[in-house]
Amino acid sequence: MGSDDYKLAAARRAVELVEPGMKLGLGTGSTAERFVALLAERVKSGLDVVCVPTSEATAAQARALGLRLTTLDEEPILDLTVDGADEIDPQLRLIKGGGGALLREKIVACSSDRLVVIADSSKKVATLGKFPLPVEIVRFGVGSTKMMIEALAADIGCEGEIKLRMRADGQPFVTDNGNVILDCAFGSISDPEALDDVLRGIPGVVDNGMFLGIAEMAILGGPDGVEVLVPEDDAEDLADLADLDDDQHERSS
Ligand code: A5P
Repeated sequence: MGSDDYKLAAARRAVELVEPGMKLGLGTGSTAERFVALLAERVKSGLDVVCVPTSEATAAQARALGLRLTTLDEEPILDLTVDGADEIDPQLRLIKGGGGALLREKIVACSSDRLVVIADSSKKVATLGKFPLPVEIVRFGVGSTKMMIEALAADIGCEGEIKLRMRADGQPFVTDNGNVILDCAFGSISDPEALDDVLRGIPGVVDNGMFLGIAEMAILGGPDGVEVLVPEDDAEDLADLADLDDDQHERSS
């Protein structure tokens, strides 16, 4: 068993969450690709769903497999989005965008009642930031946007090499939205919310790959099977509620 099997196991569990009539967001990347393939099998067996893809690549795969596609203009509210991630912390804060689809992924995730993340367990981290943070920026003024990111991120303790993402042919990687990506190797990001605020304030920055407070559940495949995580704070609240219920139960019995 290896990473491919773990991704497949996570995708398999996620596809069980899909119910007839759902409006779905389809993620991007190798794990989401497995989910789309499994979803297509269920659709061939009669499941009726409609999907919004988060990238041209996912749209092409979904179309080829016969999935019914729509847009957020037609269906602005989705029931469930299933997507991969590059890093997942205990509060289910994510880094995404390794495949360059972070902006559409975030728009689709935020348009959904639920974002469920699927990944192999190697994506679980204690602190975000080992994976360089992708930041999508407009093509105008790349040099100055990069300098502003460097200076303002350093003010809150985030320092490291910032590189314009390139394609194999030596040309800049261009996103589905016509923008470019800066990969920011900040190392450990101790305060993701503060960094998110800083990046949002920089003209030229379209969005960044941190998904904060968006994911509701993570399904991770690994050597010990499939693990389902909810944000650590929610898990503690649920445990407190269970304790409260037990206390009330004991008092009333
Ligand atoms: C795409 O832009 C990304 O956000 C992917 O969801 C992420 O990189 C995970 O990809 P894999 O499933 O291929 O690891």
